[in-house]
Amino acid sequence: MKLKNKSIEIAEKSKKHLSPVMTRVTEMVIDRAKGAKFWTADGEEYLDFVSGVAVNAVGHSHEQMVKAIKEQAESLIHFGLNYGYYETAANLAEKIAQITPGNLDTVFFSNSGGEAIDGAIKLAKAATNRPAIIAFEGSFHGRTLGATAITASSSKYRRHYEPILGEVYHVPYPNPNQLKEVDEEKVVSYCLSQLQKLFDLRVDPSRVAAIIIEPVMGEGGYYPAPAEFLQELRRITEKHGILLVFDEVQTGFGRTGKMFAAEHANVTPDILVLAKALSGGMPLGAIVANRELHEKWSAGAHGSTFGGNPISCAAALANINIIEEEKLVERSHQVGNRIVNRLRETLENLPGIIDIRGIGMMIGIEFDTRLAMEVVPKIKEEALKNKLLIMNCGVQGQTIRLMLPLNIDEDELDQGLTILEQSIITVLRGR
Ligand SMILES: Cc1ncc(COP(=O)(O)O)c(C=O)c1O
Repeated sequence: MKLKNKSIEIAEKSKKHLSPVMTRVTEMVIDRAKGAKFWTADGEEYLDFVSGVAVNAVGHSHEQMVKAIKEQAESLIHFGLNYGYYETAANLAEKIAQITPGNLDTVFFSNSGGEAIDGAIKLAKAATNRPAIIAFEGSFHGRTLGATAITASSSKYRRHYEPILGEVYHVPYPNPNQLKEVDEEKVVSYCLSQLQKLFDLRVDPSRVAAIIIEPVMGEGGYYPAPAEFLQELRRITEKHGILLVFDEVQTGFGRTGKMFAAEHANVTPDILVLAKALSGGMPLGAIVANRELHEKWSAGAHGSTFGGNPISCAAALANINIIEEEKLVERSHQVGNRIVNRLRETLENLPGIIDIRGIGMMIGIEFDTRLAMEVVPKIKEEALKNKLLIMNCGVQGQTIRLMLPLNIDEDELDQGLTILEQSIITVLRGR
């Protein structure tokens, strides 16, 4: 009874004083979380297949991360990278240089993914002295103004703010869901021809600073871009002196079965944007490029008070260390394949499910868009009733996406998948 009263009090206070602008997926009051589990203020235990939207790659409150955060807080909480150097930022920048593809060896730290995207746009414009940015239909890059300007996964994200940012163009992403009129095997050539058409009709490539892409589309529905498409983008951008930017905010740090999704296509972008699982929950983003490119960004042209703060950097170092020590990139590949095979066996023939796919532990169950708006919210509700938190994505909310901790325990994985399968079967059979 006491617990109930406490959670009601917290919910009431939140409703009164937190801005209603934020979409609230559930009305739960969260008390604590550990690994792949969390507990509400009412003492209810849940399994978490969302991981703070692909943030907690090593699970909630991993003890090595807690230790690193505590130790760092005792020696230095904040100073500001504009007033000197400190060890955690230096070590983390060096570590990122070691694990990212190709010659990406220099880092600017921000506090979030959207902020890092804005910084990447500024870096691209400053380094090329060109005005235009090209992004992709269906992509999501964040809520800051620059990121909003290049986001095209829902008109609701933009409608109050236009015009946002000078020259931004969108071309189709090789996402079969948005290109139903195009034969599946022609999707890549169709998208490339649309990019060429943009160059021919709207913007000369010599005016384009950057092409920005998610190598696996996240919010837009969990669609991996084919390797040949990314390779062709690399060739086109090199030919025209355009910078290629990969937004790996959601795909980075083992989520796709490689440390970075860029590795699946063997493509090194000019700028790699990171956040989310970089620091496993402490606010941190990173704009990674080679030294030569960063040196074209004149001192003072960008900055941040909190970016790369000592605690976030300590958390990120511990987090990457855990990913390496526990071999979570390899595990993501293996366990991801196993999950997809299991879900295909149990769910594939159900009417309404049109695809079950995964790249590592970035796994999507896609529903027919004519049904998705009706059934997906019911499946989420059914799963929550059975103590499993799941989330969906896609322009029509058509894909249930799994963002499990990469180190999830086998029993919890089995338990969560069973609830998920039962929830889907119950809702689809009950129609
Ligand atoms: C691909 C991608 N880019 C950028 C962002 C924005 O990150 P943040 O919410 O940390 O600003 C997100 C967040 O979901 C994302 O998925």
